[in-house]
Amino acid sequence: MNAMRLLAIETSCDDTGAAVLRNGREVLSNIVSSQISIHQKYGGIVPELASRKHIESIVPIVTEALETAKVTLKEIDGIAVTQGPGLVGSLLIGLSFAKSVAFAAGLPIVGVNHIEAHLSAIFLEADPPPFPFVGLVVSGGHTSLFRMDGFGKYKRLGQTRDDAAGEAFDKVAKLLGLGYPGGPIIDELSKTGDPKAIRFPRPVLSRNSLDFSFSGLKTAVVNYVKGRPEPPGGYSEQLLKDIVSSFQEAVVDVLLRKTLQAAQHQGLKRIVLSGGVAANQRLRERMEEEASRQKLKVYLPSPSFCTDNAAMVGVVGYEYLKRGIRSPLSLNAFSNLPL
Ligand code: KG4
Ligand code: ZN
Repeated sequence: MNAMRLLAIETSCDDTGAAVLRNGREVLSNIVSSQISIHQKYGGIVPELASRKHIESIVPIVTEALETAKVTLKEIDGIAVTQGPGLVGSLLIGLSFAKSVAFAAGLPIVGVNHIEAHLSAIFLEADPPPFPFVGLVVSGGHTSLFRMDGFGKYKRLGQTRDDAAGEAFDKVAKLLGLGYPGGPIIDELSKTGDPKAIRFPRPVLSRNSLDFSFSGLKTAVVNYVKGRPEPPGGYSEQLLKDIVSSFQEAVVDVLLRKTLQAAQHQGLKRIVLSGGVAANQRLRERMEEEASRQKLKVYLPSPSFCTDNAAMVGVVGYEYLKRGIRSPLSLNAFSNLPL
């Protein structure tokens, strides 16, 4: 069979992404247009502005993805598009664009679950894991643990009961006036902070639970800050670094503990990290350290495949299209699409 070239589109949140993949693994292009500059001044994503930016960006970004891959639409064999979960107004832009192209060009199309796409980002790397493995999806919207036995074969082992880990990073950064999105900023500042300076709580719920809860940790940071009124010149740079470093350490401790516990419960030796927070350097470092101590293997996608991108959507789309699975052109978007 000839190589299958797929156009993948991702618009679930605030990034407009388009990618071209050969045989679901080889990335010929992966273009992401970030909307950070638009949402920064609000300290978070404004859904209507996100939709409006997607509608401006979608054609230029897809065009750039095709040009970078050096292919024309005529050379594309199928389309993969994120169907949910996400912001419905954002999803609808990518979805209706993808459907229009599929209709006009007579191409098969398949709707992809965004969480499944995150979990599958690791297959874009040179040495992907064999199934089964434990997968942690940790992003701005999700913090969940899965057992993955194959494409389309998932068992959810745990999830957050309140905030996602990325959301906690973003809220703490906003509280301290550090900017948006908080994750990468805190990641960087923490390098010169003391992770042991403040002992924030490590919310683990019950001993055997693989669920997460980050809202109490966020409140602990709020209370800590309230207990130390800002001096006229603002907090010292070192205090800020110590706060974020100690907060990050608490998040990493919890993610580490639950993920290792999940591997142990399932009797699995392979762990895959995914989602924007999986780009966090401290999490990556400590997960590798701890796993090697426990003789487990950790698989880490490159940071650009951790944060939202269309290439990971293409991985999943390829797996389905190659099995003859396609979506009807009545395909709709679902903000809470489960996995
Ligand atoms: O996967 P993603 O791009 O979008 C969602 O599906 O949510 O994840 C975005 C989230 C944001 O909350 C952002 O602050 C966080 O991932 N993030 C990070 C890092 N890079 C992005 N969190 C911690 N450390 C990072 N280096
Ligand atoms: Zn995501």
